Amino acid sequence: MNPIAAVIRSTIALKYLMAITGLLLLLFVIVHMLGNLQLFLGKDAINAYGALLKSMPVMLWSFRIGLLLLVAVHLGSAVILVIRNRQARPQDYEVRRAVGASFASRTMVFSGLIVLAFVIYHLLHFTVGAVDPSLLKLQDDQGRHDIHRMIVVGFKHPLVSGFYVLSMALLCLHLRHGASSFLQSLGWCSVSGRLWAQRLALGLAWTIFVGNSAVPIAVLLGYGEGGTP
Ligand code: HEM
Repeated sequence: MNPIAAVIRSTIALKYLMAITGLLLLLFVIVHMLGNLQLFLGKDAINAYGALLKSMPVMLWSFRIGLLLLVAVHLGSAVILVIRNRQARPQDYEVRRAVGASFASRTMVFSGLIVLAFVIYHLLHFTVGAVDPSLLKLQDDQGRHDIHRMIVVGFKHPLVSGFYVLSMALLCLHLRHGASSFLQSLGWCSVSGRLWAQRLALGLAWTIFVGNSAVPIAVLLGYGEGGTP
């Protein structure tokens, strides 16, 4: 049998794929958050970081294609698993209250879909420039793309910033459950291991929520206006 068809047929293989792609996406979110926090080091730091990434187009495009593949595999596995789960349970529950399931686990599909909508909007906002094309034309005094100014202008609108913060809350809810069930999906689930995974996942989710939300909230509070640091 074709190996891709074999993976799709196996529920265990799909769970492994979801866990591994989810972990790699989590690593991306952490690295991206550290990059974004350079906003607080001033204009030069974040603009130099952006210019450095763009000076390595082969690496940047390999990374982008890799990221796209990770999202496609994570999403594709999720869709197949949800459909398979529903087919295995032909009669819907009378009462849709999962006993013992956390709020995060019950809302994985919903939070995942909102995060997907967020990523599409975010790419249109800061990478494609479809929301405001002038954002991609901003340049600093060294002729580099002025990412610092782009972020400050982009987050000046309370609705946009509000959507980002709400999306970060849902992303972190999604990450918290995803990261804590990672070990279980891989079959390594001693009771103490699970407890530690849950604590680590909670800590990571809060760190990512605070780190990412700090950017739009700081801009709304006036950071970067009246002379950039
Ligand atoms: C408030 C938090 C965030 C801020 C301030 C932010 C900021 C940015 C900026 C400024 C860019 C464009 C970089 C450039 O022009 O070189 C970017 C690109 C991107 N961001 Fe974010 N981001 C945030 C959260 C996220 C999250 C949570 C995700 C994923 C779940 C994400 C995924 C991406 C992706 C995929 C790109 C495109 C990368 C590329 O072009 O190679 N971002 N972000």
